[in-house]
Amino acid sequence: MSSSFGKRIKVQIFGQSHSEMLGVVIDGLPAGYEIDMERVQAFLNRRRGGQNAWSTARAEADVPRVVSGMIEGRTCGAPLCALFENSDTRSEDYDALKDIPRPSHADLYAQEKYGGYQDARGGGHFSGRLTLPLCFAGAVCKQILEERDIYIGAHIEQIYTELDEPYNPVSVSAEDLSYDGFPVNDPAVAERMQQVITDVAASGDSVGGIIECAVVGMDMGEGSPMFDGIENRISAAVFGVPAVRGIEFGAGFDAAGMLGSEHNDSLYIKDEVNIGDDDSLLFVEDVIGHKTNHAGGIVGGLSTSMPIIFRVAIKPTPSIALEQDSVKWHKEEDWEEVEEVKLNVGGRHDPCIVPRAVPCIEAAAAIALVDLMVV
Ligand SMILES: Cc1cc2nc3c(=O)[nH]c(=O)nc-3n(C[C@H](O)[C@H](O)[C@H](O)COP(=O)(O)O)c2cc1C
Repeated sequence: MSSSFGKRIKVQIFGQSHSEMLGVVIDGLPAGYEIDMERVQAFLNRRRGGQNAWSTARAEADVPRVVSGMIEGRTCGAPLCALFENSDTRSEDYDALKDIPRPSHADLYAQEKYGGYQDARGGGHFSGRLTLPLCFAGAVCKQILEERDIYIGAHIEQIYTELDEPYNPVSVSAEDLSYDGFPVNDPAVAERMQQVITDVAASGDSVGGIIECAVVGMDMGEGSPMFDGIENRISAAVFGVPAVRGIEFGAGFDAAGMLGSEHNDSLYIKDEVNIGDDDSLLFVEDVIGHKTNHAGGIVGGLSTSMPIIFRVAIKPTPSIALEQDSVKWHKEEDWEEVEEVKLNVGGRHDPCIVPRAVPCIEAAAAIALVDLMVV
């Protein structure tokens, strides 16, 4: 089932961009976790559109209605279900797209798969709108992970040619992972990135970028080998976010051009540890350190206890205002009647998906990690 994720928990997302409602059911969460709904809302607000020049003008309240699974602010063990209303829809903007697919969007391929019965309004269930319930599930999972001192955060590493400071893969800490406003490490780059997006939008075009995400606080040895490795599960969840084109962990593709002596993360005994000095039980990661973190915190699918670091490539928004080449077909006629046409996409779109995708990537990682570790 393409709309559900998880083995130990089940995250089931439902709805379309312009359906009456959309939402999520999270089954299998342990009971008794206190969920701070103000923090959930603050997380959802980071993804909201309609708030600035670099996101879609579609303005939705994005306030969850939790209809089951929580009593007096705590999970109760029953499936946790949250609903969201779609109210700022303009379905007529998509009438022309029924017959003329947008290049790089799912219109043509959904038409072929669903035989014309798909909901084409606003991209249907291929829409970025479905990352709203994903972010709800992610916000809940982030709070559950924080109970175990595991923290997740992400920043915009690149928009077009503007680059932010990457995380220090050895020393990034929980304090480094929260941002006020535009999520970049170098405040000077925020304005330049926003300007790139504003200029690109003014020219009717769109732009992509890279998000770097970090997870700190994972104990050594969490995860599994082969198909259930931490990379596997995070990747599967991250590719659930539309517009993701690639993911790399640690040194990633650069590892291919390194020598083993450069890439290997050498081990050492931490200075501050005097083994046997006191009776307290030490974790292996309290004693053994890694001098570098080219592995991005994962070896053999298992956590090394170093920060998990991964980078996600986001493509430019497919819906652009510039005229594009497409084709038109008439549903009642056969494919031979198809003709080449110029397409002018209407509607309201994000000129750059990257800023709104930052919490979506954090959410995907949080869901994957809770799924790996819960029970
Ligand atoms: C937060 C977010 C917002 C998005 N907004 C738009 C948008 O306004 N216009 C658009 O064409 N695509 C948008 N997308 C991307 C499309 O949904 C996506 O490119 C399309 O479904 C095809 O899927 P794919 O790119 O994963 O192959 C958005 C994606 C996300 C994550």
